[in-house]
Amino acid sequence: MEIIERVSQLNSGMKIPRIGFGTAASPQNIIQMKQAVATALKVGYKHFDTASIYGTEPALGEALSEAFRNGIAKRDDVFVTSKMYAADHDDPVSALKTSLKNLQLEYLDLYLIHWPINLRKGVSHPSPKEEDFLPLDIESIWRGMEQCVELGLTKSIGVSNFSSKKIGDLLSYAKISPAVSQVEMHPLWQQKKLRDYCSNANIHVSAYSPLGAFGTYYGSNSVMENSVLREIAEKHGRTVAQVLLRWGLEQGVSVLPKSYNSCRITENYQVFEWSLTEEDHEKISKLPQKKIVRREGLINSTTSPYKTIQDLWDGEI
Ligand SMILES: NC(=O)c1ccc[n+]([C@@H]2O[C@H](COP(=O)([O-])OP(=O)(O)OC[C@H]3O[C@@H](n4cnc5c(N)ncnc54)[C@H](OP(=O)(O)O)[C@@H]3O)[C@@H](O)[C@H]2O)c1
Repeated sequence: MEIIERVSQLNSGMKIPRIGFGTAASPQNIIQMKQAVATALKVGYKHFDTASIYGTEPALGEALSEAFRNGIAKRDDVFVTSKMYAADHDDPVSALKTSLKNLQLEYLDLYLIHWPINLRKGVSHPSPKEEDFLPLDIESIWRGMEQCVELGLTKSIGVSNFSSKKIGDLLSYAKISPAVSQVEMHPLWQQKKLRDYCSNANIHVSAYSPLGAFGTYYGSNSVMENSVLREIAEKHGRTVAQVLLRWGLEQGVSVLPKSYNSCRITENYQVFEWSLTEEDHEKISKLPQKKIVRREGLINSTTSPYKTIQDLWDGEI
């Protein structure tokens, strides 16, 4: 059996736990979410993924504070990621300070640029209108992210939803290299090009929507219902979700499944004591590829920096 390390080393010197607890949900049920975080801590999760736009920072903050107070966890034992929303790009330090206040934390473990777009203050719609876009200057945003590290507000910084090209551009001027690239990844969107690029640049990849965002308004059931993955799961006496997460871990990334259901939270963590075979990997490597989180809503022919879907993902779609 291939032994999977529970943490990965980041280029910032910090370590990232390989299984993260996702907190994007719509509609958001804050009471349910707080209970889910408490369950996750008991099960062994140490990594919690939130974002300013999810609206889950305050509830995650409350759940973690309660756990710290009750001695269930210590701040140093958990890894908290949050993401800067695109309408806050003018001032990353202030945006991060607001997230820290929401989370009742003194520092983050990882702060990410959530999307490579720039929106007017106050805009919070997933499909911004033409008048909501502002010109995008990733270099100046990154300077603010670097300042966040210099001020001790976050241990590591990174990007999300960036193509290899956008990461390459950023590396040409970055004083602090991104430690993490968080992207959609699962067997039906394997991200081989981006992962090779990140591996050469010593950037860790975190897989969001590792279950294909099963049952959500923006996701698809095609990953969880894939017949090849079902067969592999049956053969191992595991669930498809466990096969998906184990596959991600065996590819060397960290995985960020979201569940607020205590049985599924436990199920999703039971991926360390068994492994996939070479034959399984061979079958999975041949699955047809289709990106699920495409975000056509970020494209327009006038104000967005992206006129087409190809522009947004620099051809990685
Ligand atoms: N950076 C970004 O732009 C970005 C984008 C999307 C997501 N993310 C992050 O990644 C996390 C995970 O992605 P995601 O929430 O989109 O999708 P996901 O984790 O792929 O799927 C979540 C869905 O699967 C269900 N589920 C979870 N475990 C299951 C299991 N064992 N069996 C059956 N169903 C199961 C959940 O429902 P229940 O809760 O009812 O179990 C939920 O409906 C997010 O929560 C967020 O933290 C980041």
